[in-house]
Amino acid sequence: MDRNLPVNLGRVTEAASLASAKFLGQGDKNKADGAAVDAMRRMFDTLNIDGTVVIGEGEMDEAPMLYIGENIGRAIGSGLAIDIAVDPLDGTLSVANGLPNAISVVGVAPKGCLLHAPDTYMEKIAVGPKAKGSVDIHKSVKENIENVAKALHKDVDDITVVVLDRPRHDKLIKEIREAGARIKMISDGDVLGAISTCFDYTNVDILMGIGGAPEGVISAVALKCLGGEQQGILKPVTEEQKRRCIEMGADLEKVYTIDDMAKGNEMSFAATGVSYGELLQGVKYMENNTASTHTLILRLETGTIRFIESIHKLDKKPEYAK
Ligand code: FBP
Repeated sequence: MDRNLPVNLGRVTEAASLASAKFLGQGDKNKADGAAVDAMRRMFDTLNIDGTVVIGEGEMDEAPMLYIGENIGRAIGSGLAIDIAVDPLDGTLSVANGLPNAISVVGVAPKGCLLHAPDTYMEKIAVGPKAKGSVDIHKSVKENIENVAKALHKDVDDITVVVLDRPRHDKLIKEIREAGARIKMISDGDVLGAISTCFDYTNVDILMGIGGAPEGVISAVALKCLGGEQQGILKPVTEEQKRRCIEMGADLEKVYTIDDMAKGNEMSFAATGVSYGELLQGVKYMENNTASTHTLILRLETGTIRFIESIHKLDKKPEYAK
């Protein structure tokens, strides 16, 4: 794929972050999300791509923009045909409540390479490159933790598992504690949780638990670029979700590997911090109507990992001005 595409994806997530960060702590998750969607959609339309949204804001009848199946880009029918997975704001509640680790995120691959995941839950296990090959979602929590500890040359009590803070994880949390590992609880945002396993300084070693299936596909793109590993099992909750999974050809027994979710050797990913966080700083508003963003950009073909800090002169970008 075009080597400039990843950096352009960074422009897309920067735009969404700048638009939604204004709503930090304002108590309105829909406004924050709507602003991110709008800005992301506008920026995509400046790119020379023939994109199809495969992971998006919902079905056509429930989302006005960035819905599943929507064609986006400036070169529909003539440009580079790609699958696009978006989450304009992962952590809508975090922004509404002024909490950390909300990001705007995009993953892309050639057409047909990203799993069309139903909008349901997925049980996930993810690790960074040094622990690749040491997890098996069918094994017990204890065994997985011990195997990751071995791979990382750490003691089990030095292993940190990141888990979404949800009542459905009570049993998982008990098992992690019994195994003797540490827990980092997050209020939202398991895409960033999964990515954190790939960066030593976050001190996160494993992501475990149930989160969104669409987020699972986006994480798979990032982890593939970073050399990590993720496995997932679809966990529909309602009969309607089950029906939707089957309709989409999903297999409820299958362990989806990273290559099932993100196929092939060409892929790009970008994420920009919206609220403050450990891996990515949030948008900061500064003097003279300027704002800074912090973006992670990944390209599988070369394995390049870029962290880009940008200063935006909002007078010149009136759509993002306060
Ligand atoms: P949204 O910002 O789209 O609400 O997603 C946040 C998130 O925490 C995801 O990162 C995660 O995969 C999912 O929600 C978990 O779902 P739930 O909040 O229903 O447990």
